[in-house]
Amino acid sequence: MDKAQAERRIQELRQIINHHNHLYYVLDNPEIPDAEYDKLMRELIDLESQFPELIVPDSPTQRIGGEPLAAFKRVTHREPMISLADAFSEGDLRDFHRRVTSVVGDQVEYVVELKIDGLAISLTYENGILVTAATRGDGLVGEDVTHNVKTIKSVPLRINPPSGKFPSVIEVRGEIYLPKEGFKKLNEEREDMELVPFANPRNAAAGSIRQLDPKVAAKRPLSTFIYGIGYVEGIQFETHHEVLEFYKACGFRVNPHIKLFNSFDDVIDYCMSWREKRDLLPYEIDGMVIKVNSLQFQKMLGSTAKNPRWAIAYKFPAEQKVSVIEDIIVSVGRTGILTPNAVLKPVNIAGSTVSRATLHNEDYIKEKDIRIGDSVIVQKAGDIIPEVVEVIKEKRTGSEKEFKMPHHCPECGAEVIRIPGEAAYRCTGVSCPAQIRRSIIHFASRDAMDIRGLGPAVVSLLLSAGLVKDVSDIYFLKKEDLIPLERMGEKSADNLINAIQDSKKQPLSRLVYALGIPFIGSKASFLLAQAFGSMDKLKAATYDELIKIPEIGTKMAESIVTFFKQEQTNNLLERLKNAGVNMEEQKRSEGIRLLENLTFVLTGTLEKYSRNEAKEIIESLGGRVTSSVSKKTDYVVVGKDPGSKYDKAVELGVKIIDENEFDKLIGTKQ
Ligand code: IVH
Repeated sequence: MDKAQAERRIQELRQIINHHNHLYYVLDNPEIPDAEYDKLMRELIDLESQFPELIVPDSPTQRIGGEPLAAFKRVTHREPMISLADAFSEGDLRDFHRRVTSVVGDQVEYVVELKIDGLAISLTYENGILVTAATRGDGLVGEDVTHNVKTIKSVPLRINPPSGKFPSVIEVRGEIYLPKEGFKKLNEEREDMELVPFANPRNAAAGSIRQLDPKVAAKRPLSTFIYGIGYVEGIQFETHHEVLEFYKACGFRVNPHIKLFNSFDDVIDYCMSWREKRDLLPYEIDGMVIKVNSLQFQKMLGSTAKNPRWAIAYKFPAEQKVSVIEDIIVSVGRTGILTPNAVLKPVNIAGSTVSRATLHNEDYIKEKDIRIGDSVIVQKAGDIIPEVVEVIKEKRTGSEKEFKMPHHCPECGAEVIRIPGEAAYRCTGVSCPAQIRRSIIHFASRDAMDIRGLGPAVVSLLLSAGLVKDVSDIYFLKKEDLIPLERMGEKSADNLINAIQDSKKQPLSRLVYALGIPFIGSKASFLLAQAFGSMDKLKAATYDELIKIPEIGTKMAESIVTFFKQEQTNNLLERLKNAGVNMEEQKRSEGIRLLENLTFVLTGTLEKYSRNEAKEIIESLGGRVTSSVSKKTDYVVVGKDPGSKYDKAVELGVKIIDENEFDKLIGTKQ
């Protein structure tokens, strides 16, 4: 076959395959058997490998998942991805309707949709081609997950809009989710491999999308429903319903249960009817979404900084079921804290099987008088860990047993003590395996040393292979040690070794946080690193010197002194030093100049710092914090749910940064 013939056949094959993809993945209505589809795909792969110059990014072969990424790029949304306000009752819904009609009059149509329990995604198409897929992130800046989203077959790589309706740019929004069946299978596989199962389909979907290696997402049966629009250029719409129809025509997957109403009583009936029917769906929903249909009305209603005024989410009440506490077992956390958990007779709640529930601590058990053998009401709301709400005392037979916290750690046998003034019990063992496991996971976590690829599953494998005994051992791992581990290929071993090596350069503030000193969070670690500049100086600091530092209280100072007094700590630091781990922070004097003459305004809730903490950091580095945005403002730091200062910053063109960018600016990240 010559090149011209190949090109014709390639184009034909792409068209046929895209057509069948659409039938199978978007319309759930396949026309040809899998074997036939595979044959077409193989022919295309074959031809493209003979003529690689003919490969285009929207060829169906490009969904398979290429090389893993080193890190996610960040994507600033062209329009913020705000979220919906919640309604929990019919009354809340009627209030919403009243607010709407007071602005636009009572002739208002609503579109009612299912609220899919997945993760929000934004897909940008330029000249019809999918160029970027991004997560919501903090609403302003998300992560670029195009490599993973391309593996989802219901996401068109190229759109074919009906004639006369071709947007030069369109940002399509929707939800990525994992169907219940796929979720069940995935968790069964994980359990077979002794990996921690995902708590719910949403976490599983998010976990699949936030992977650097697209082969992981490619293997998971992820799907999509598209329901919203962001930035658009080149076409106009009148109603939301019209937008959805346009999406269907373009080849997107739009939920079939979307309905248009002009009576609000009908809206309510429709919402309530799904409360019972939700279990019958092959995917999870956690409520309903009600949207004003007219886009002109939407514009008139506008949005607050947090939510649109033209839409609301009706959240279903948390599902409750009756179960029996078969046993109460105790798990040990990173800092040695013992947590009692109920082992339940498995029950299906909100689509997933629940067989464990947290009992928090001994006081919680006493307060609710929870006993082994009790029938209890168990609740699961969204992604919250299942809880025992109450004991059904009428069902007691007298054979129930009271629970007592163990005197010895269930993991290592060391003595257990109750922390004075707290509800918690703690294991005193210095080499308790459960604590070691969790301390390594913490050490490698994102805000600590940020070692990608060293998550809970890998840590468990390393521990059971006897390759690590404390955090310092990870710096002595070699590629050959990793290869024999389960599911560890050559590539992932290389990546992990590189990530470990890179982490040696992290600043002292991160290392201090990573050590997991009780009561010392990332903010305190930053202040300590700034104040002392090196691990040696911090180690030598006295209690009196420590409490002089703003924000370091007596409990923290005591904890630091105790921590550095231990022989174990010194051995560990010695080994980390020998491994070449950085033990210094940028000098304070340099730090002081870092933000000199810069003016900041803070808005919204930051995750890691309170307003005051952020203010103090800025001031300690020579910057100034003011309360209102003006042209003189250098940076507006935007957290979750920002207020009107955000809008003002946009209006004045002042530089807007999020918390991660702020971290970079102050030097907690490299
Ligand atoms: S509309 C400005 N419609 O629920 C309106 N959201 O806060 C943006 N969701 O983050 C959302 N199903 O991830 C909309 N049919 C639906 C939805 C939906 C699920 C999620 C979405 C959003 C959250 C609401």
